[in-house]
Amino acid sequence: MQAVFGTNWKMRNLDQREAQQYLKTLADGLGGLLEDGVQVCVLPPATLLPAMSEVARKTSIRLGAQNFHWEEEGEFTGELSTELLKDAGATVLMVGHVERRVLFNENDEVINRKLLRALEEGFHAILCIGEADRSTPEARLKEELSAQLVSALRGVNEADLNRLIVAYEPHWAIGRRVDAAAPVTRVKQSAEAIRGALKTIVGTENSVRLIYGGNVNLSNCRAIASVDGIDGLFVGRAAVDPAGFVSVIERALDGATD
Ligand code: PGA
Repeated sequence: MQAVFGTNWKMRNLDQREAQQYLKTLADGLGGLLEDGVQVCVLPPATLLPAMSEVARKTSIRLGAQNFHWEEEGEFTGELSTELLKDAGATVLMVGHVERRVLFNENDEVINRKLLRALEEGFHAILCIGEADRSTPEARLKEELSAQLVSALRGVNEADLNRLIVAYEPHWAIGRRVDAAAPVTRVKQSAEAIRGALKTIVGTENSVRLIYGGNVNLSNCRAIASVDGIDGLFVGRAAVDPAGFVSVIERALDGATD
């Protein structure tokens, strides 16, 4: 399966020129990898999408949005619809990030509605799932990941699954509070659990890409990306610098092809 790498900028304050420069540096740095079909997406704050899409359209790098509303349009003050985001240049939408789940109370029902909307509107969708607690035993881990998948995927059309990317993002391994990625053994257990659950829920695991996110950096990217069933990485802080993101991608791919 084609490798896929993404970065979520969260609420970083770049101006339009800086955001365009980031993409140019990223595209130049990746060069041949993009031509070889490695898929890369960048999820900036939505206000930067139009300026960035002027650069992105000359490359195969996809742009995406970190948040959106599941309804088509209407009286939803402060929200952005899929149509607005499409017009701004997004082709990828993220659903279920732990910061949305915890800080903005997005529950399983909301996540399911958003995922359906994203896929029905033709977007690639990144669905983030993961256990909350580091000490979750393996049997419980399987149950938790499977339950999140069952509820998020309710009603999803099988024909849309090739546009679905599941991001395994253990909540306890995200962001600066913790500063440690999940160990490779945990990534392996979770990848098996997610692939197994996908087979049960949608009858196939093959068309769905699975990536890992949470404190990915240059030291751990190789080992994590080499885990069986993992197709790529979702990177936060280690991709703030585009050259750093390129290095993570190069090293991850180097390990994966060993
Ligand atoms: P991090 O963020 O790499 O900075 O831990 C990852 C994420 O939120 O997806």
